[in-house]
Amino acid sequence: MNAMTPGTDAARFPVQALRGQFPALQRAADFIFFDNAAGAQVPHGVLAAVNEHLVGHNVQRGGRYPQSVAVDASIQRGRAAVAALLNARRPEEIAFGMNATSFIRLVSLAIGQTLGARKEIILTDLDHEANVATWLVLERLGAQFRWWRMRDDGCLHCEDLEPLVGPRTRLLACALASNALGSIVDVHRAARLVHGAGGEIFLDAVHYAPHGPIDVQALECDYLVCSGYKIFAPHMGFLWGRYELLAQLPTFREDFIPDQPPGKIEAGTFIYENVAGMAAAVDYLAALGHSLGARPADGAAELRDGCHAAMAAIRSYEQVLSRELLRVLRTAGATVYGLSDAAQVEGRVPTVCFNLPGIVPAAVTEAAAAAGIGIRDGHMYAPRLMHRLGLAVAQGAVRVSLVHYNTLAEIERFAAVLDRLRRTP
Ligand SMILES: Cc1ncc(COP(=O)(O)O)c(C=O)c1O
Repeated sequence: MNAMTPGTDAARFPVQALRGQFPALQRAADFIFFDNAAGAQVPHGVLAAVNEHLVGHNVQRGGRYPQSVAVDASIQRGRAAVAALLNARRPEEIAFGMNATSFIRLVSLAIGQTLGARKEIILTDLDHEANVATWLVLERLGAQFRWWRMRDDGCLHCEDLEPLVGPRTRLLACALASNALGSIVDVHRAARLVHGAGGEIFLDAVHYAPHGPIDVQALECDYLVCSGYKIFAPHMGFLWGRYELLAQLPTFREDFIPDQPPGKIEAGTFIYENVAGMAAAVDYLAALGHSLGARPADGAAELRDGCHAAMAAIRSYEQVLSRELLRVLRTAGATVYGLSDAAQVEGRVPTVCFNLPGIVPAAVTEAAAAAGIGIRDGHMYAPRLMHRLGLAVAQGAVRVSLVHYNTLAEIERFAAVLDRLRRTP
């Protein structure tokens, strides 16, 4: 299974039928959700699962009465579902919590305590600040930093990583895809380089997750973090780690909690209803995959194969959206940061940062809002990236971020806004 290969024919992608499954899209009528990188909408199965939790068993886990037993079963089901989504070796490798940032911090705190002779952490100037600042604070524990820098094409190249890796490398922290530019990182090759030197790789999959298949075994990574609210579930986060590594991590836990994953990673109570919602989001994806012809299997394999087929189809369909979005931006005379050529869409997801000549980013997003289109301007929580692009962090750029429920017709409406802006003196 190749984690990054586009799959099913994009022309067969049932976008209208899928849109019908998202109540927020129905309620919003003509409004266009083009700010999905900041959070996506949820299908009705997710709403039903959250509702069922709150109405049917909104109690603490670990009790002997039926509602509490149901919570334990729901958490177990959530772990199995996310394990299938990521092709994890076992459900205990999945931990649930508040969001991605708090998990990155949890792992960075643990890594900081175990630096030993390997004190070097490799960071990138393409990443969301959540996967940078959380590591930089380890300086006071003796960590040293090396920077894997983005090239002018808006991509990280493994040739530039090679000289940074050595016997003192403890960890590489990097994203699967940039939440600002949409560029995809060859994390599999990066993992091989880092492992070759005896280091580890921590992946921020928050931005990539709604756009394509993730297979932690094929990627050969060590840790991976993700946010449910970017992948059609409610606000929550999850961490995957190789079981042996999680087992060794020094984490905070009360004395009576066994020093074993996942309990040792999940201090306190997390949002059970949103874990139920996350499991339902995985069901939604698996059902999409099966409707597109993923072969039926049993149990975990059925979910895994369904999700993989869905994400491969989403990846293909989104490449069509990327091509059209880039065409529209070129016609509008925009400066697109990162991969801007339609021939390069395989290297990106449909998240595009741009500026229009002589127009401040906020004016573009305001014009879009007035036309019923939600997009975003600013630094996208990637201030180092903005600096690298030569943009004022306070102003940044305009970002349009699409997911699989967006359509070519919506892009045409956005094109009309750009056209009006261009003609306005
Ligand atoms: C790439 C990336 N990493 C990390 C985060 C932070 O995620 P969370 O809000 O779950 O902490 C985001 C949020 O936008 C993101 O896009």
